[in-house]
Amino acid sequence: MRKKIIAGNWKMNYCVNKAEDFVNEIKDAINTDEVDVVICPNFVALDRLSDLLDGTNIKLGAQNVYFEDKGAYTGETSVCMLASVGVNYCIVGHSERRQYFGETDEIVNKKAKKLLEKDINPIVCVGETLEEREANTMFDVVEKQVRESLDGIEEAQMKRNVVIAYEPIWAIGTGKTATAEQANEMCRFIREVVSKMYNESVAQAVRIQYGGSVKPANANEILNMSDIDGALVGGASLTNDFVAIVNY
Ligand code: PGA
Repeated sequence: MRKKIIAGNWKMNYCVNKAEDFVNEIKDAINTDEVDVVICPNFVALDRLSDLLDGTNIKLGAQNVYFEDKGAYTGETSVCMLASVGVNYCIVGHSERRQYFGETDEIVNKKAKKLLEKDINPIVCVGETLEEREANTMFDVVEKQVRESLDGIEEAQMKRNVVIAYEPIWAIGTGKTATAEQANEMCRFIREVVSKMYNESVAQAVRIQYGGSVKPANANEILNMSDIDGALVGGASLTNDFVAIVNY
């Protein structure tokens, strides 16, 4: 039985003080061991939230990382730096990073592998655009993203550490959710791709989240689908709605 994982992607929201206040407000209500709960604030809030979350079951996640170890990469943050403030998870390949910052599957793959070297669990995002869905090419698009982003990752790491997030771009921040059936169909398809790349035991172990306008009103239905193992929550993770989603 795969344990559900619900992650809040705060994106570029909340300065440090506000981040602390909000976590203090909700942390008792989301401190559960029934699902894995992850909070992904901005880099500058990681250290302070790490202290706040110490002693809870809530895990800390980053929203990005660079794949080089160190050096002249102005503005970038290494895996070692994330590990040094107690980061357990890191989102890679979010569609906003692919769209605005030119992140490719090859870059996503390098980042995921580098995170795994330091035992930080990558949350690898994939998902099609509206045009691709309308042209019915979404399965080809997502298969390519999955194959190239996960290329060369070891079987044991796939089972233990890697999380895949299926986020159809047309459902992110738009209020337009994929139906639970559409989301489940793609998550099942991703599992089949993982089975072809590795084997059925890896496919059954890897956790696949859905993301895109998840809110309290749809969380229960989405999280009860057979192949959906959690949610990556954007807008609704910034409010008390996150508490309701975690307690779906
Ligand atoms: P949303 O964002 O929940 O605001 O649609 C999801 C995401 O981008 O991870």
